[in-house]
Amino acid sequence: MAERLQKLISQAGLASRRQAEKWIEEGKVLLNDNPAKLGDRADLSIDQVQVNGEVLAAAQEKVTVLLNKPRGYVSTLKDPEGRRLVTDLVNDVPQRLFPIGRLDYNTEGLLLLTNDGELAQQMSHPGHQVDKTYLVKVRGSLSEKMVKRLERGVVLDDRKTAPAKVERIRTAGPSCWFELTIHEGRNRQVRRMCEILGLSVVRLKRIRFDFLDLRDVMAGQYRCLLDSEIRKLKKIK
Ligand code: URA
Repeated sequence: MAERLQKLISQAGLASRRQAEKWIEEGKVLLNDNPAKLGDRADLSIDQVQVNGEVLAAAQEKVTVLLNKPRGYVSTLKDPEGRRLVTDLVNDVPQRLFPIGRLDYNTEGLLLLTNDGELAQQMSHPGHQVDKTYLVKVRGSLSEKMVKRLERGVVLDDRKTAPAKVERIRTAGPSCWFELTIHEGRNRQVRRMCEILGLSVVRLKRIRFDFLDLRDVMAGQYRCLLDSEIRKLKKIK
């Protein structure tokens, strides 16, 4: 069945539909060797679609992996500085995966990678934000006042963060560990929330994403999500 090109490109996991539309407008998409136009449709069993020089394969099997990201990896698909990429850690999955959201270079823990454009779009949609829990190690101690401020929200970029949950874990010498659960995904949010309170983050690890955790997945390792887990993420009964 013929589908709109932007839908085929996003289903292949190459980009969001909006980005695919931009590529079509910029002439980066060819349909049967001719520049494609917005509104064009194709049937991948008979038509050839090229995106930025790459031929789109007929429906690829969807796969989503849960990676336990170590420090020292970037969660982008390319790095101008030549640093290691999270995708280097899942190089025995033939599908081209891309991360859902980001973890900073020095942040560890649970990161989902997928070629399922629909899942990625759904997970990044502001109306579909899920709880994400981070284990945070800071230098110094966390006062009750700080806990309240983190929980009520602090102002980042002129906008207060949404209410969060804090659970103290332990104090170890000059440092203190706590869990912070947020559902927004603003840039470097946890580090910046801590910085505002004068807390210096020594270690940061995402330990839960919605109902998923790092059980049985060691640092640098990954596992494929089960269909039932994907359906639960997509909230399909
Ligand atoms: N918050 C941060 O500050 N960094 C991350 O990598 C994730 C959340």
